[in-house]
Amino acid sequence: MSGAKNASLALMPATLLAPGTYTLQNTPTLRDVTTMSRLLESMGVGIVHADHTLTVDSSHVTRFEAPYEHVKKMRASIYVLGPLVARYGAAHVSLPGGCAWGPRPVNLHIEGLRKLGVEIKLDAGYILAKATRLRGARIVFDVSSVGATGNVMMAAVLAKGTTVIDNAAMEPEISALAEFLVRMGARINGIGSNHLEIEGVDELHPADCTTIPDRIEAGTFLVAAAIAGKKGSKVRVERCNPGHMSAVTTKLEDAGATLTIGEDFIELEPSGEIRPVNVTTSIYSGFPTDMQAQWIALMSLAGGTSIVTDTIYFDRFMHVPELIRLGANITVKENIATVVGVEKLKGAKVMSTDLRASASLILAGLIAEGTTDVLRVYHLDRGYERIEKKLSGLGADIQRVSGEEF
Ligand code: EPZ
Repeated sequence: MSGAKNASLALMPATLLAPGTYTLQNTPTLRDVTTMSRLLESMGVGIVHADHTLTVDSSHVTRFEAPYEHVKKMRASIYVLGPLVARYGAAHVSLPGGCAWGPRPVNLHIEGLRKLGVEIKLDAGYILAKATRLRGARIVFDVSSVGATGNVMMAAVLAKGTTVIDNAAMEPEISALAEFLVRMGARINGIGSNHLEIEGVDELHPADCTTIPDRIEAGTFLVAAAIAGKKGSKVRVERCNPGHMSAVTTKLEDAGATLTIGEDFIELEPSGEIRPVNVTTSIYSGFPTDMQAQWIALMSLAGGTSIVTDTIYFDRFMHVPELIRLGANITVKENIATVVGVEKLKGAKVMSTDLRASASLILAGLIAEGTTDVLRVYHLDRGYERIEKKLSGLGADIQRVSGEEF
């Protein structure tokens, strides 16, 4: 597997917190990583990405702005807000707007930073933030938010005094960010829990790190094996962290697959039948919303009916109409999809709408009769490195017809 996209997208802006040179190993070659690199370069950060190693030089940051053209491409651009106000006392960051499946509010980011003493105004689609010395505060998030936890944590590490964050996100990518900040000299207790205590320091220093494996990419490949693997065959997903994936591996076993779980690999042997298994997404360590679309693709071929509920994003079902074009039998009511398994799917032209939706269409295409043309695969390239090459290695008949290689 490659390094985790959602870890890299948090680690990269963290380099704004202390001037100097950083080496981030196992950084995946993805469209979103390139977008974040361009954004940081526009601020004066030097970046070289070679052979999955990102070398970052944040010694000469001269601009504190994340313009709309960057943020509209990738909502995670907002991660520069916390570090910029903490280190430079100013930031001018575009509001992210929506994404394919609906509004993506940032109120928790703003409220949390205001608690730390950041003065924030919203004007003409931008967040205008300024601060002198941030001060520690007690912050309780109404909703567990990966991004807001990351942003507030990256600001609190340089605040004066102690910050307590309750209902903090516990996703491995946030723990990886916290551990990186500690290597940079930050003082953070409670890493891995939803209660973080951060003792502000006057300054941090550069550090190096190795990005954790991508649990969603690994989960996607396991679903590929379960949906299209031949009975008796085995697919081995290597360089992953099974400890980050128990919600998904347990559900795959419930669906009939046999898994062998090692230190840094997972082997999946399909049983020849796909059992219907209900899933409700939740915050970590529950079933990830980023695996919901892939799960629906698998359940489309189950021997029965399953219910898939997304409690994180209520409208993240853009993949459903496209799967129906392939012959799936799915109805969605509010944030609940009822999937009646069918005997087979039939290839057709389908449209990617967002990253994980496009992954689910590829998975369905692996098993659909005939050829499936998945359009707008630039969505896929945001979060999957060379997916067609990795799937071809498993015996899939898949090729990139157009769109630049990423
Ligand atoms: C991160 O997005 C991930 N992206 C998403 O992965 C993932 O789906 C999401 O976490 C949930 O796990 C990155 O890490 C770059 P949130 P983020 O803030 O931080 C609500 C992918 O496919 N909310 O945890 O934006 C929000 O609407 C991407 O790789 C507020 O109400 O997600 C949602 O319902 C897609 N106000 C819930 O919280 C806020 O200020 C969780 O969102 C922020 C969030």
